[in-house]
Amino acid sequence: MEQPKSTTSRRGFLNWFLGTSIGALFASVTYPVLRFVSPPHIPEATTNQVEAGLTNDPELLDQGYKIVRFGADPVILVRNGEDDYRAFAATCTHLDCIVEYHKDKKRIWCNCHNGEYNLKGQQVAGPPPKPLEAFKVDLVVKAIGEPEQIVVSRA
Ligand code: FES
Repeated sequence: MEQPKSTTSRRGFLNWFLGTSIGALFASVTYPVLRFVSPPHIPEATTNQVEAGLTNDPELLDQGYKIVRFGADPVILVRNGEDDYRAFAATCTHLDCIVEYHKDKKRIWCNCHNGEYNLKGQQVAGPPPKPLEAFKVDLVVKAIGEPEQIVVSRA
């Protein structure tokens, strides 16, 4: 006895339909999870130069230093005299604490483990294993008689 063709094609259709539905459900659940677990890589814009303020900046005149952003990284800008400005990476080379400047001792100091650097960025006391990365500092005259713009750039 021969089975009717319509039963076979209906069963085939149901199998195909259930198979693709389960596949689509699986894909719709796993795809967002995988996207969340591995977010897309977004390249960070590289910064080569920043304007760090004017030479009459009260923070620089009072404390002798300030921390400026250089892209995503902090940079310490030190005023050592009238036209003597220096800039270094502000992240300590020991365990990445942010350094500060002691104007009276003329030392860049890390309060995490009492590390010290001189005004060339070289480590002189404490545990820091490497010198601070140095940056170039230029003073740009914007207008005659006005304070100069301090520009920090990669050395
Ligand atoms: S993190 Fe700076 S001395 Fe340890």
